Parts: sequence; structure tokens; C-alpha cells
Amino acid sequence: MSICYSEEINDDLITTTASLPEDNNEGSLRPKSINEYIGQEKAKDNLYIFIQSAKMRNEPLDHVLLHGPPGLGKTTLAAVIANEMGVNMRITSGPAIEKPGDLVAMLTNLNEGDILFVDEIHRLNRAYEEILYPAMEDYAIDIILGKGPSANSIHLDLPRFTLIGATTRSGQLTAPLRDRFGVSLRLELYSPEELQRIVERSAGILNVKIEKEGAYEIASRSRGTPRIANRLLRRVRDYALVMADGIISKELADKALSALDVDHLGLDAIDRRMLKSIIDFYNGGPVGLDTLAATINEEAVTIEDVYEPYLLQKGFITRTPRGRCVTRRAYEHLGLDFVGQQQIEL
Ligand code: ADE
Repeated sequence: MSICYSEEINDDLITTTASLPEDNNEGSLRPKSINEYIGQEKAKDNLYIFIQSAKMRNEPLDHVLLHGPPGLGKTTLAAVIANEMGVNMRITSGPAIEKPGDLVAMLTNLNEGDILFVDEIHRLNRAYEEILYPAMEDYAIDIILGKGPSANSIHLDLPRFTLIGATTRSGQLTAPLRDRFGVSLRLELYSPEELQRIVERSAGILNVKIEKEGAYEIASRSRGTPRIANRLLRRVRDYALVMADGIISKELADKALSALDVDHLGLDAIDRRMLKSIIDFYNGGPVGLDTLAATINEEAVTIEDVYEPYLLQKGFITRTPRGRCVTRRAYEHLGLDFVGQQQIEL
């Protein structure tokens, strides 16, 4: 059975992890140093040591792969690394590299020690990956000129540089590329306490008056994601200015977020629709990812990358070899009676 909702899923939802135009001034909120960067303690502890060691050896940092769900600050962390190393960072992304020349131009324009940041590196054309292998290993590239028997190859030395790759899907990287990263760090969803500190820091930068409990309320409804926390902070600030005295208290944050359709645990309309679909159409599961994707009219990768991480963290769904299941906790959160699941239909 495949039931499609006619309504398109709205990517501009306030709780989307995708970067929206309104996040453009995210830059001013971005921490510049490791000390300012809140959360991701394990990744930071390791990075600190690798950065200090590289500086003591007067060598570039080894190539770094950052992976994890969207919105957790992979670009921000790459900029922090560049700042701590005292080098420049050039930014590109897998899909932006449309021809081999784009990549060659980026590489040959680097200066000694620079960082090349490639976002969504899993979307880099496989055929161009091979340019990266000698670049990463030997700081050199071989350019083939012409075709057939008259083809010539030019060997170009590159400055010693660091490649920082970011991906939401490290499993989609080819093994040869993945193996060339000396450091691989997984970023995790943030705890509400960490997000509270991020909200308080951002409120300070934006000159927004906020009480501790107000910051916690926003934090606990931000799906473990700083990008969402900062976006919700701005919207709650608007609400506080227009509807109250400009100060963000717990009560005000609750009212504003409820008005934005963000529930107490940060679930939005799509999360609730996904859980309800599994319950209504598949008896709570198990349902295969592709079937579920067709049911809610969403891409399977988006479900995996964007919606599932938070629902898994909250214990609302489980992944089994036979598909996704909704838990008792999700039924309770939706105000439904738990009728058990995995009933075998005769
Ligand atoms: N803004 C966005 N992400 C942040 C982080 N991890 N620490 C501090 N401020 C942030």
C-alpha cells in the first residue's frame, strides 16, 4: 500500500536543518576559537591536540573529515580550525565542482598551509575524486593534456594544504577517499544544556534580553541543532518585542514556539506526520524506509539525514532490519493509546 499526501512538504519550515536565507547573518553568531565553540567536546579535545601538534611540527594539519547530521556546525568548526592554525580557508562544495578544471583551479590557488573546505563532499563527482588522491597524499596533481597517443601529462606540485571534507553521509564516500583522511570526526546532536549556552551566547551578541529558563525552553525545542536554536531565538525575539516587553521568559518562549507549531520536544508538523503515518498505515511498523518515504512524499535520504536522527535520539522510533518502528513513547507524545505493534496480519 502506498498512500501519498497531496500536500508538498515545506522545506522552509522553521525547524528545517537546511540553511535558509534568513540564516545569512548566522556568521556573526559563529564562534571563532575552540574556546568559544560550545559542545562537541570529544571532537574538540582531539582536534586541539592535533592542531597543537601540527603547529609544533610546523606542518599543515592532517586532512580532516567531519561527518554528522546537517546544522551541527561543520562549516563553523572548519573555520575554527583555520583560525586556530592561523591560515586561510577556501570554501567549495561537492556539487559546485562541475568540471575537473574547477577542482584544479581551487587546488592550484591555495597558499602554503591553507585549508580547502569541501562541503557535501559525498556529492563530488566520482571521476574527479582521483584528482584529490595525489593532491592529498603527495601535494601534487597530474594533468592530462590532449587525448589518445598524443596526450601529455604535466606534473604540478601543490602547496602543502589541509583538506577538510564535510558530509552528512560518510557511508557514501568511496573507501579510497575516506582512507585518505587522517582524522575523521563525527559531530553529535547537542544536548539541551549545550544549546541553552549557545542560545544565551547568541542572545548576548544580538542584544536580546533572555532569562535562563527562556533560553532552555528554546534549546529543548531545537532538535539538538544550533542552526535551529539560533533561528528560533530570532523568531521568539520578534514575538517578545511585539507581544510583550522584549524579554524572553519561559512562558513567552513557550507561547511563541507553540504559535510556530513547534511542540514541547521540538517536533514539527513533518515529524508528527511521519510518526502518525507509521501508526495509521503500518500499525506502528516495521515499515521500510522507501515505503515510508513514498507514503509521506519525501526523499528517503532526507528522512534518514534530517528527520530520523532527532526522532531516534528522542526514542520515538527504532530502526530494525525489517524497517522503522514507532515506540510507545511516541504514541504517548502524540496522545494516542499504545496498541502494540508488529501485529501479524492473517
Ligand atoms: N553557534 C552555532 N554553533 C555554535 C557552537 N557550537 N558554539 C557556539 N556558538 C555557536
